[in-house]
Parts: sequence; C-alpha cells; structure tokens
Amino acid sequence: MQEVGTRDGFQAECTFVPTADKIALIDALSRTGVAKIETTAFVSPRAVPALRDAEVVLREIERHPSIVYSALVPNVRGAERAIEARADELNLVMSASESHNFSNLRMACAESFHALLEVGRLARDAGTTVNVSLSCAFGCPMEGDVAEQIVLDWTRRSIEELGATGITLCDTTGMAYPPQVAALTHAFIVRWPDIELTLHFHNTRGMGLANVLAAIEAGATRFDASLGGIGGCPYAPGATGNVCSEDIVHALDLMGYDTGVDLDALLAASRWLPDLLGHETPSQVAKAGRRLDLHGRSATTGRFARADTAA
Ligand code: COA
Ligand code: ZN
Repeated sequence: MQEVGTRDGFQAECTFVPTADKIALIDALSRTGVAKIETTAFVSPRAVPALRDAEVVLREIERHPSIVYSALVPNVRGAERAIEARADELNLVMSASESHNFSNLRMACAESFHALLEVGRLARDAGTTVNVSLSCAFGCPMEGDVAEQIVLDWTRRSIEELGATGITLCDTTGMAYPPQVAALTHAFIVRWPDIELTLHFHNTRGMGLANVLAAIEAGATRFDASLGGIGGCPYAPGATGNVCSEDIVHALDLMGYDTGVDLDALLAASRWLPDLLGHETPSQVAKAGRRLDLHGRSATTGRFARADTAA
C-alpha cells in the first residue's frame, strides 16, 4: 500500500493545511506500515498553492528506513528542488492523453517526455530513483478511451530512455473498469516483470475497489490510495478522490491479503482529516467503523451507538 493523501489529496483542497499538521500527519502515516508515501509535489506554488511548503515538509518529516518518501515532480525545476530536499524517489508525471497533458502540463506528450529525459539525467546523477506516472492511462475525460498501445509505448520509453524503475498507471478520473484493468495489468507484467508497477485508481464512479481486485487477480501487488479517499487532479474535469486507503485495507484484510498496514493506526490518522480540511471525507470505514465494530443499544433511549463510543 502506498499513501498519496498528502499529495494527490491535499492538491485538490482549497484549504491550506498548515505545514506542521502535514508533517505530523506524514509522521503518523509512517507508523501505519505503508510501503511508500508520496509526501508532496514540487510544482509551481502558483499552480498548486496547497503544496507550496514542499521543501519544509520533506525536510522535517521523520524518515522511517523501510518507507520510500517520494515526491511528484513535473519538470527540471521541480527535480532540482526535490533532490535538494532529499526525496527518496522522484515521481515524474505525464499523461497518456494529449488533451489532459496540455491541460495539466501545458505541452504535447512528446514535448513533456523530452523535458522529462533531462529530469531522468538529473536523478541518475543524484542517485535518486525515478518512477513515471502516466495519467489517464485508462481513459481521458476529454478524449475518451486511450488505446492500450499508447500506454504501453510511453511505458516502454519511460523504462528504456528515461531509466524509470517504476511505472504508475493512473486512472485520473475514475474511467477504469475491471476487464480493462485486468488486460492492461496483464500486458504490463508479462512484458516488464521486473519493473515496479503501481496502480493508481480514483473512485469517481464507485469502481475503485473492483479495479483493485481485478488488478490483484492479474498479478499486481502495489496500489496508491489516499487517506480518507480525498484527492483529484485540479486540471482534469470531474476529478474526485482516490480509492480510500482505509476502505481498501479493510476489504483486503477481510479477504485474507497481507497489506502490511495497521488498520487501527490508519483509521486514527483518517479521523483527523475532517478537522484539518474543514469537511467530511469520502471514507466509508472511518464513518461506519469496521465490519465487526458492533453497536450497543442504550437501555434508556433505545437508540443505537457504536460500541466504542457508547460510554
Ligand atoms: N517549482 C516551482 N516553481 C515552478 C515550477 C516548479 N517545479 N515549475 C514552474 N514554476 C514556476 C515558474 O518559475 C513560473 O514562476 P514565475 O511566474 O514566478 O516566474 C510559474 O511557475 C509558471 O511558469 P510557466 O512558465 O507559466 O509554466 P511552466 O511551464 O514553468 O510550469 C507547470 C508549468 C505545469 C510545471 C506548472 O504549471 C505546475 O507546476 N503545474 C502543476 C501541475 C500539477 O501539480 N498537476 C496536478 C498533479 S498531476
Ligand atoms: Zn491521482
């Protein structure tokens, strides 16, 4: 499980979460057992003011040796900042769709890729690993379906020319559906068994968990998810939150998968979000409790209360 709430999540919020709270939240996430945390983004502070404190956040979090602390980077300027701030991994971003790439990065895909080659060189020189995130890999809100071959071509070039050791296939606006996910995941794993594949789903149409399960069935083992299910790309029309970390972990636990994540710790962190953001989150399990968090019945009022809050 890889946590993206403090990047994909916070970038979509109007509220500026105070830097000290971001740091405390990432420190809490570091104690949940997630494998990777996308801490922040080194993007233009004018484009994404919510993440204008990226340097301080990355500098002041406590680093857990088993966790990869990554940061999103759109260009050379971002790479220089992220390397200086000692990100463990640069998560480079481009879109598999020309329209979304233009909306998000103001360039054609080929231009973006060309610019990212320079970022790859910088990362190599600094000894920092590179992951490439391909947005709209399962469909574009402006263009519709994106051909699997286009996604596989950018994947191949990212690995061969840019030196990426990991690829994230992003379902930026929740257009993925299970058979499509299974086919693309299978095609990827057969061709690049040694490259770290991450699936990044948004729950925009309620298919997030189904897509995670389809990807697992096809052999995937790494998933991005966001605490509380917050998130969404500000430059993609209709974008909403990522699949919710605690909902996914809750479901996978029940199915017998070892996610490595302590659900109690994750829920405790998630229940802090409404205060930080000023609104409820899409999380189901944070609100309803776990499947067997039972409700007691009050003798005096006849009303029900969850056992853990029924004092
Ligand atoms: N870090 C800090 N500042 C940056 C930057 C970075 N990585 N990249 C660009 N900037 C600054 C430029 O210096 C410029 O500042 P100025 O106006 O004070 O001189 C300003 O941002 C705008 O630059 P501009 O030339 O208009 O665009 P650009 O091509 O340099 O930057 C992007 C384009 C896409 C990098 C920028 O708009 C951006 O960071 N967008 C956010 C993308 C994003 O986070 N999407 C969601 C996640 S996928
Ligand atoms: Zn996303």
